[in-house]
Amino acid sequence: MKKRSLRIAIVGATGLVGRELITLLERRRFPVGELLPFHSGRKRASVKFRGRKIPAQAVSLPLLKTADLTFMVSSDEVSLEYGPALAKAGKWVIDDSSAFRLDSKVPLIIPEVNADRLSRHSRLIAGPNCTLTGAAVAGLPLIKAGGIRSVRIASYQAVSGAGKAALEEFANQSRAASTGRPVPAARALPRRIAMNLFPQVGSFNGHGHSSEESKVMAELRKIWGLPKLPISVTATRVPVERGHSLSFWIETRKPISPLKARQLLQRADGVKVWPEGNYPTPLEIAGSWPVHVGRIRPGTSKNELCLWVVSDNLLKGAALNSIQIAEALLKRGWL
Ligand SMILES: NC(=O)c1ccc[n+]([C@@H]2O[C@H](COP(=O)([O-])OP(=O)(O)OC[C@H]3O[C@@H](n4cnc5c(N)ncnc54)[C@H](OP(=O)(O)O)[C@@H]3O)[C@@H](O)[C@H]2O)c1
Repeated sequence: MKKRSLRIAIVGATGLVGRELITLLERRRFPVGELLPFHSGRKRASVKFRGRKIPAQAVSLPLLKTADLTFMVSSDEVSLEYGPALAKAGKWVIDDSSAFRLDSKVPLIIPEVNADRLSRHSRLIAGPNCTLTGAAVAGLPLIKAGGIRSVRIASYQAVSGAGKAALEEFANQSRAASTGRPVPAARALPRRIAMNLFPQVGSFNGHGHSSEESKVMAELRKIWGLPKLPISVTATRVPVERGHSLSFWIETRKPISPLKARQLLQRADGVKVWPEGNYPTPLEIAGSWPVHVGRIRPGTSKNELCLWVVSDNLLKGAALNSIQIAEALLKRGWL
């Protein structure tokens, strides 16, 4: 079969997720003929791909339309402006913003969970919120084996989940705090994050849920195809650079022992189970591809299990998931 050589655009190529995408395109030998990197155009910037520096440019729809596939990794507003126009022009778009995730016409995809929802006619595809990815992947084999009644999640989310401005704020505050200088005020995040944590990711709605908590509930229900599933979430931002951790409680219809859960998870696609007595931490798993699971133990009843789940928010939570979607399109011969 002739090897394809594709024109690949990245909108948001100079951001945290965009830079990871570029590295993954190279590392996973994605058949890129030409890379078109776009950014806000506010400052001059370039990206490095296959040892070559490529200048990033301000977004141009005519130029984007020359690409076979566009990864959208900038903001909801930018995705809303360009995503549908590109899909209408017959181009593939993989969008990591939250703009289309709950749109019933847009597939919301984690390849290990629901690649069967991809269709050659739905050219705009959404990737999920980075917090729920670990729960979606780790929960699936348990649901398949035991059915499901409810889920509870407490998240411990890295600062990189809020983009490069938040990460810079974290670094500046940490430097100041550790050298006894005045700590810069919070701007990108709602509170000071250095030597602190807070139970707010996004803004609060009328029911008291943060936008992150609402996204996790709604997107998990869509991805698992369980629109009425009871889910309770507390999303917390913690002073960690990268890697989202979850306390994950899952109540199944049929009891599953911790030993059985361990065996099911060991066979699951995209999951790494840690040995008993050990557990993953964000620092240890940063830069890795799987969803890491440890501390598999009984919950409050024989139908409940507790798990500790950690995944790299910039990789499985964003860039890697998007590349895996693109690889699935290639495999089907649609791209
Ligand atoms: N961070 C995560 O863990 C994560 C996980 C899942 C999904 N996502 C989603 O992925 C997207 C990117 O997140 P990120 O963390 O990489 O953000 P980021 O580090 O803040 O980067 C944002 C990127 O968007 C570009 N940009 C900003 N305004 C633009 C405009 N008007 N036109 C074109 N490009 C523009 C920026 O360009 P400049 O360099 O010129 O500013 C930069 O390249 C967001 O939608 C986010 O919700 C992020």
